Amino acid sequence: MLAIELTGFGTPHDVCRCIEIDAPGAPGPDEVTVDSLACPINPAELLLLAGLYASKPPLPYQPGIEGVARVTAVGANVTSVNVGDKVMSLSRNNWAQSLNLSANEVIAMPEQADTLQLAMLKVNPATAWLMLTQYCDLKPGDWVVQNAANSGVGHSLIQLAKANGWRTVNVVRREELIAPLTAAGADAVLVDGPDLVQRCKAITGDASVKLGIDAVAGSATTKIADCLSDDGTVVNYGFLSGEACQMTPTQIVFRGLTLTGFWLAKLLGSMPRDKIEAQYAHLSNLVVDGTLNTPVEATYGLNDIGTALKHAAREGRNGKILLTPNGAV
Ligand SMILES: NC(=O)c1ccc[n+]([C@@H]2O[C@H](COP(=O)([O-])OP(=O)(O)OC[C@H]3O[C@@H](n4cnc5c(N)ncnc54)[C@H](OP(=O)(O)O)[C@@H]3O)[C@@H](O)[C@H]2O)c1
Repeated sequence: MLAIELTGFGTPHDVCRCIEIDAPGAPGPDEVTVDSLACPINPAELLLLAGLYASKPPLPYQPGIEGVARVTAVGANVTSVNVGDKVMSLSRNNWAQSLNLSANEVIAMPEQADTLQLAMLKVNPATAWLMLTQYCDLKPGDWVVQNAANSGVGHSLIQLAKANGWRTVNVVRREELIAPLTAAGADAVLVDGPDLVQRCKAITGDASVKLGIDAVAGSATTKIADCLSDDGTVVNYGFLSGEACQMTPTQIVFRGLTLTGFWLAKLLGSMPRDKIEAQYAHLSNLVVDGTLNTPVEATYGLNDIGTALKHAAREGRNGKILLTPNGAV
């Protein structure tokens, strides 16, 4: 069977290769065997492959932070899932045709939910949901300001905010994104520029703006902070600019703004199993009813890993890039 192997850290398409390995044997008593159906290539994967993520795994390494799979065999003690179930994988090694996973690493998903959407459920919708709910008690009509709004997280945040009656100002860097993001539920879409803060305040007016969501860092953090009301919170969860977050003494000292960081992996690591299951049951139901829908630009087989990684690293995409290890879904 095919799997992706990382042999060193560097430019992602140079350091990953598709190799032939033995299929996993029968699952252990507490394991399941799954066939992988789809896995997105997220910015975090590109950082990991480049050796720029939170930590470097030992090499060689099989990447793949998330994915959806079909159960093909279950161990003697496993009662949580059955052969044939579609499951979300909580493993971080999903880029292979087949895997043996602990039963604790899979969560049954609704069969009728779109497979590609489920493949992207673990990371971005959960990130958007937790950032919207963990830092402020948002009331119906409250505004949230975010940048990188065309990202997977950005789309989920727009859709989840809309479904809960929260309004969003969405910062992008391309004019052509205004129409699709508005259609996706954005209340306002602003193209970044020197007068961004004034344009944002013209929309939010006198309303209290308590929450700013920043994936870009650098001076973008300063701009998001300037869009907030006094004592608001900026949640940084990415550094797409490659720069450190910047906030001024005026923002922190005189205006009482808080900058905090969000990392899903850390949160999931300490979340009780029943809470994890409840969170993904909630989010997968929102996939079924069409609330959550992340645009997809292309899918690739494992053999095309180099092209897929180059495509995922490209700017100006209009959707996610996914691997479909066992063929198109
Ligand atoms: N902390 C966490 O737990 C966590 C969880 C999930 C995601 N993340 C982070 O969230 C970010 C988005 O992830 P994703 O999977 O949603 O991304 P994605 O769907 O792959 O989209 C990437 C987005 O980033 C934008 N972008 C890239 N470079 C930029 C820059 N220098 N300035 C402004 N925008 C830029 C792109 O804009 P264009 O369309 O204009 O190219 C695109 O909208 C990444 O940084 C990722 O690492 C963090």
